[in-house]
Amino acid sequence: MWEVVEERRAQIMRALSEGADSAVQWAEIEQAASRLKSGGLVAFPTETVYGLGACAWNAEAIRQVFVCKGRPADNPLIVHLSHPSEISSFALEIPASAVRLIHAFWPGPLTLILPKKPEVLDLLTGGLDSVALRMPAHPVALALIEASGPLVAPSANRSGRPSPTHPAHVRHDLGPDVMVIGDAPCTYGLESTVLDLTTTPAILCRPGHLGAQELSAVLGEPVVSMTSALDGHAPRSPGMKYTHYSPNAEVRWAKPSIHPPSRTLWLVHSSVATVASKDIVATVASEDIAVVDYAGDFVQMARELYDRFRQADLEGRPCVWIEPLPPPPHDGVIAALFNRITKAIG
Ligand code: TXA
Ligand code: MG
Repeated sequence: MWEVVEERRAQIMRALSEGADSAVQWAEIEQAASRLKSGGLVAFPTETVYGLGACAWNAEAIRQVFVCKGRPADNPLIVHLSHPSEISSFALEIPASAVRLIHAFWPGPLTLILPKKPEVLDLLTGGLDSVALRMPAHPVALALIEASGPLVAPSANRSGRPSPTHPAHVRHDLGPDVMVIGDAPCTYGLESTVLDLTTTPAILCRPGHLGAQELSAVLGEPVVSMTSALDGHAPRSPGMKYTHYSPNAEVRWAKPSIHPPSRTLWLVHSSVATVASKDIVATVASEDIAVVDYAGDFVQMARELYDRFRQADLEGRPCVWIEPLPPPPHDGVIAALFNRITKAIG
């Protein structure tokens, strides 16, 4: 039933057997899996951000995940799978819409919310009657989950901080006692798209690289954004109500007429000339203002956003200024950037 997914999975896994230090990586993955199976926590890379893994059936380990992150108990976790056949352990049913999306996008940055089986731990779902499932497109993540069984894996940051896109970010937030495997930055840099399939139409709870248009093209039905679905009701995805992704530096949208304070980190997606007057640009260098110009490459901007936030803090920069994004409607990576930046601004 899942041949297409299996082919993509095999393709991704090939990176592990062909890598120069493949023996070291396998040994590390085995060690990590045995730690997880005995109830420990392990941070591991995915294609989006680093996750803090714990066995999805171990209540005490899941409790430790909430403690380690300082995460509110009503914010449910995503279960990470190494194969779609594992869905049936967690979800009551796999609707046709889910099958279509999985064939198109798994392994990949898409989390699906489905009605949960009664045996799924309440701790994991924050008491909701649904469960979030995802199959990551990263060889280390897939190998680890295959060896350990399904894992809950929230982003491996302290709650409220930017998600980690590099092992150094995990160590900074969670300290030296948490085992971290993997050594490379993440491909996407922003968290997965979260799509709620327990309602019709499906609701986009968290925008990601994979946008509403791509999803609805596969579904053959519209996908509505959470803001339009909310309509005065409580957030469907509890995580979306908390302040998120914030560095200590103040994040704000740049204004053409205002000079940024000295030592600002200034992120520009088009060119400095479009976000500031000539006078301002002329004085920028003398005030140690760091300008990063993405020259229209929003994918690269997304990949680096959280790392830039953390860089500002490490360099003691008080402000991160960001050139306003193109006007809505947004979708895909620009929608995801807009969502994360708006939340970081708070
Ligand atoms: O890319 C990702 O998804 C990363 C990597 C590590 O896989 N994980 C991640 O997990 O971002 P976390 O815990 O930081 O974010 C999970 C989001 C939260 O916004 C949470 O509220 C939502 O998914 N969520 C989880 N279960 C849900 C459910 N049953 N209904 C609605 N939203 C749910
Ligand atoms: Mg998170």
